Amino acid sequence: MAIFNYVIKIIISVCSIIGYKGESLAAPLLVTCLKKMEYRGYDSVGIGTINDGKVSVRKGVGRVEDVDSNLLLRVLPGRIGIGHTRWATHGKVTEKNAHPHTSCNGEIAVVHNGIIQNYSELKSKLMRKGHIFRSETDSEVIAHLLEEDYVSSGDLRGAVLNTAKKLTGAFSFIAAFSDGTIAGARFDEPLIVGISNDGYYISSDVIGFLNYTDRAIFLDNRDIVILKGSEMEMISFDGAPVMRPVTQVAWEFGGIDKGTYAHYTIKEINEQVETIFKSGKGQEDKIEQVSELLKSAPFVYFTGSGTSYHCALVAKALLSKYGRRKSDAIMSSEFQYLVNDIEPDPVIVAISQSGETADVLEVVKKAKPLGSKIISIVNVPTSSLARLSDISISMNCGPEIGVAATKSFTSQLTILYAIIDRLSGGVIGLENQRTKLQNAVKELVEGQKLIEQIANEIKNAKDIYVLGRSIHYPIALEGALKIKELSYVHAEGIPAGELKHGPLALIDKNSCVLVLNPNDSTFDDVKANAHEIKARGASLIGIGSSPSDVYDRFIAIPEVDEVLLPILEVIPFQVIAYYLALEKNANPDYPRNLAKSVTVK
Ligand code: M6R
Repeated sequence: MAIFNYVIKIIISVCSIIGYKGESLAAPLLVTCLKKMEYRGYDSVGIGTINDGKVSVRKGVGRVEDVDSNLLLRVLPGRIGIGHTRWATHGKVTEKNAHPHTSCNGEIAVVHNGIIQNYSELKSKLMRKGHIFRSETDSEVIAHLLEEDYVSSGDLRGAVLNTAKKLTGAFSFIAAFSDGTIAGARFDEPLIVGISNDGYYISSDVIGFLNYTDRAIFLDNRDIVILKGSEMEMISFDGAPVMRPVTQVAWEFGGIDKGTYAHYTIKEINEQVETIFKSGKGQEDKIEQVSELLKSAPFVYFTGSGTSYHCALVAKALLSKYGRRKSDAIMSSEFQYLVNDIEPDPVIVAISQSGETADVLEVVKKAKPLGSKIISIVNVPTSSLARLSDISISMNCGPEIGVAATKSFTSQLTILYAIIDRLSGGVIGLENQRTKLQNAVKELVEGQKLIEQIANEIKNAKDIYVLGRSIHYPIALEGALKIKELSYVHAEGIPAGELKHGPLALIDKNSCVLVLNPNDSTFDDVKANAHEIKARGASLIGIGSSPSDVYDRFIAIPEVDEVLLPILEVIPFQVIAYYLALEKNANPDYPRNLAKSVTVK
């Protein structure tokens, strides 16, 4: 099989699954792999190994390191095994609901990522046949389905095929059988085989096995891999053999270690000095193609979720002001219901760090058959979204491990600036200002001491409001999102002009208000809003280039052309949110209840 040089980032999903079969002891390897992947799902963890024809499982609630030290996951015997970190979707966070799940006869163990939509119907049927379920999860049906088929037919391959075909939803699973076979199946969730000198890995994420091998096979949808004896077989759900190329994976820059930083989040905030400078570089051809497409498109839709949606809002404003093109920005979780009623033959620009967000994929899958052209901006060039797109531009900002999107936001923004700059004949002048922009980012990340102090001063605020007008309003939304997800403080982004239409009623001396007050056409109006807030006794923090007495504290944004301000303005919010999380003793890398990428609707 050919080996291609390929640069990849991260495949991301809600839970992580990993399997190993080779010459080394499986359990210690699996524990290390799971630690690498747990940034995506982290409420419970488990491992199952096969030794002398016996399946052994240990699992528990908590982080990999804690569960391993309590239950000694790593001492499970055998050179074949599977592992899982869970982010609960079906069933509470309990030891019973943690994976692996086993069949009634205890001879099959299964780990699963995704959602089985028809699980309750399958479960009822299996229960009627006498299967006993021990968890509340959707995943457990896989173990019983495999058992039901395998016990009656004695055909392991057939059992895996039949089981995969019975499931609906989005899933990837790995099953370990007491005879030493491991099988994985993929449908709408990533699954990758790693080939090392001493064995095979099957994983939801290359990061899982990248310490041991950089040779990977990215399975396609409806692919099954079976590792039996020393053989690897790849087939599709209809049983036909499939061939997939071996890819040599490499990190373009930056590692997945925290280095000297306390957390990934602050590392990734600091990395923006480099990532903003590099965004879009080396992809000028694609930027040109996309700008031509947007120029001739009857209508453009920008879409994304969370932070990526905030980027879409900025892009819409820029395209209208500088490109004079009609467009809309619609969050993907809503857009999927509108797809049938959109303008004819549009271009859809789908923005997603992971390229695996279910809502975004849903929009694209619905819009594509109706004739929409799909452009994507992703950080994972091998992601499902990139594969579904007509043109995909990579953020190239290196792996983003912190759950909060930081450097990916400024990278996606910069790429959209580059596209709209191109389309509008260079009126934004991004390229001439890259170095200035980079120095400004440097100044901001180096100014963290003041922001740390501010975070300390506002740590007891129950509610934080973030105000902005015009193109700064999406940054107010993004700033509030960062604060709420990292520090668990209620925060709301508000268009400053709407204050008097309602939100002002909330403001009193206990409120904390952050105000985006740049030196542009919004300056006077926003300052007037700041005075109205001040008159109600709230504490006020201004963010802009012209300090004023109205503000109790002021965070200075370095001078750049006003069009570029949104790229810089978000950085103080990322830093405030990070330090607020520390003040609250929350782990900024792993906010409670959240996963890095939401691959379920
Ligand atoms: O991978 P995506 O960009 O598609 O993810 C979209 C959102 O889930 C993501 O931006 C989320 O809102 C972040 N946690 C925000 O920090």
